[in-house]
Amino acid sequence: MGKQLAIHGGSPIRTEAFPAWPVYGKPEEEALLRVLHSGKWGRIDGEEVATFERRFAEYHEARFGVAVVNGTVSLRLALFAAGIQAGDEVIVPPFTFMATASAVIEANATPVFVDIEPDTYNIDVAMIRKAITRRTRAIIPVHMAGLPADMDAIMALAREHDLVVIEDAAHAHGAAYRGRRVGSLGHMASFSFQSSKNLCSGEGGIIITSDERLYEACRSAHNCGRIPGGAWYEHHNLGGNYRLSEFQGALLNCQFDRLEEQAQRREENGRYLAERLAGVPGITPQARGRGETRHGYHLFIFRYDPQVYGVSRAVFLKALAAEGIPAAPGYAIPLHRQVLFTERHFGPYTGCLDTHPQLDYRQVSLPVCERASDTAGAWLYQSLLLGSRRDMDDIAAAFEKLYTHRSELASVAAD
Ligand SMILES: Cc1ncc(COP(=O)(O)O)c(C=O)c1O
Repeated sequence: MGKQLAIHGGSPIRTEAFPAWPVYGKPEEEALLRVLHSGKWGRIDGEEVATFERRFAEYHEARFGVAVVNGTVSLRLALFAAGIQAGDEVIVPPFTFMATASAVIEANATPVFVDIEPDTYNIDVAMIRKAITRRTRAIIPVHMAGLPADMDAIMALAREHDLVVIEDAAHAHGAAYRGRRVGSLGHMASFSFQSSKNLCSGEGGIIITSDERLYEACRSAHNCGRIPGGAWYEHHNLGGNYRLSEFQGALLNCQFDRLEEQAQRREENGRYLAERLAGVPGITPQARGRGETRHGYHLFIFRYDPQVYGVSRAVFLKALAAEGIPAAPGYAIPLHRQVLFTERHFGPYTGCLDTHPQLDYRQVSLPVCERASDTAGAWLYQSLLLGSRRDMDDIAAAFEKLYTHRSELASVAAD
């Protein structure tokens, strides 16, 4: 057995930690104390959340923003505002976080899974076209890892079939497509500010839109069905309390001040790392050049070819971690194979079962997504991309080392 690989006792490529996440400092500390001492802790009392909504929407070239408690609720409210209801079908990708599809169940509608592209892992527009039926009402493209989906083609289909498009931009703060920021491309967009996200406040989310009617609907739904000018105990619409607190608003305003510089750094490092890794056999970075003017790089996705290394993805990632480079297998269970869907654990939301009594997600076959989930997909986290050029060289060196010593991988236990 060779002794080169760190997992076999050799020296790791890297022992230093990568940049920590979240990044914070005096501004966050002062802002949180300011809110504390103001006694204005809820959005209805202060200006932090309202200010952030304006800034975030403007940055993404949209007219309005409604901040909410998380990026799951924002999808749910966007579907609600779009009027999605029982009997409707909503097209979603299967390679994403469950909220993209569970929000559709909670809207009492039917998620229709459409496969992804093999090289970008974004939803495949040719497959969307095939999945459209007379019941289709909406599409939720996810900008996977921060790479904008093929929005020109998606919006053309939407116009043709009169569909609502809700961008799931949970990974894509500050990303751009053909010169325009994501969030301004569909009818509405949903972002998440959960702790791992490129802009975060522990928990949080936002819906942005330039359509005043959709904005009013989201605003009312997130605030117990109230309407502008109405009395506090006057409720016009179905809604709930999904308001963000001023503490989160204050944090978001500070984090927002850091976003543009961080986004530029991620883009620069991501582009460089992709170039470096393109030269490593059996490793293929997420394809670029599909209209993105800026990748959001919430994740740095790469495809792994087990044929080249003779071991599973799990073994490869274990050996990579031993070299000091943390990585993850990504969405290892496609959504259509989650128990939630195979066993139809939809609770009281029976709209999709009433519409499609035979609905059986176990029959759904989406080979590209399944390959990505089962064997090929993997990613590095965004905070690694906040490092220096030298950090990127270390990452690339670790991949190169594993390739050079690939014959030693066979003796690594899979556990
Ligand atoms: C693609 C995608 N959509 C939606 C969400 C939901 O966001 P949240 O965790 O804020 O509810 C996430 C978060 O993980 C996500 O990655």
